[in-house]
Amino acid sequence: MVDKLPTDDELRRMAAGEALGAVEPGMKLGLGTGRTAEHFVRLLGVKVRQGFDVVGVPTSERTATLAKAEGIRLATLDEEPALDLTIDGADEIDPALRLIKGGGGALLREKIVAAASSRMIVIVDAAKFVPVLGAFPLPIEVVPFGLAATRRAIEAVAAELDLRGAIAPRAADGRAFVTDGGHYILDASFGRIPDPERLAARLSGIPGVVEHGLFIGLASAAIIAHPNRIEWLKQSRT
Ligand code: A5P
Repeated sequence: MVDKLPTDDELRRMAAGEALGAVEPGMKLGLGTGRTAEHFVRLLGVKVRQGFDVVGVPTSERTATLAKAEGIRLATLDEEPALDLTIDGADEIDPALRLIKGGGGALLREKIVAAASSRMIVIVDAAKFVPVLGAFPLPIEVVPFGLAATRRAIEAVAAELDLRGAIAPRAADGRAFVTDGGHYILDASFGRIPDPERLAARLSGIPGVVEHGLFIGLASAAIIAHPNRIEWLKQSRT
């Protein structure tokens, strides 16, 4: 008999379950956003209800609601500005632990929380592991004021870096998608981003860009769930 392969959601849950092993009592934890991070929050909730004490800083209103319902003690980054560990998903990850995030629209808070953490462990199913970032549209969070001008400036940077593809405002239910911070998102379908560092630096220099979904130098490790095994990818310290 042939074993049934795990579904994508089972893989996400497997990655989340593995990450639970990295959490120690008393830790201050950044809690990510998305389906994989939600598995982690639910599994953490089970441990917390058994008496495991941690404090969580959520990266979105959605995660805050779930974590509260799970009985996890929450704090803001103002109350706990230095975190031990953040566990979060990603839309894409490459072998150098560079990420695209923001598919769920929470990239700004996710990046602030990850940057405030000593370590970040990324939890993904194997389909998210890619040799070159960019097949997933890169989310770029922008302020509503001057949207057309900001988009034009992003297009100019893309042309200069020889990146082609549509840069389109994200919509939800027929309206502009609005982030927890009250901003809009432009999704850039570049297909391939051969030099993420260069693109990140150029995007950060555009007035009107609040943040972009390239997470570089933030992940310390990744847990990749394959159908038949769990793989840990760690930052090489050369
Ligand atoms: C949220 O804004 C994103 O960065 C998520 O972390 C990312 O989209 C992964 O989400 P899933 O686990 O749902 O794929």
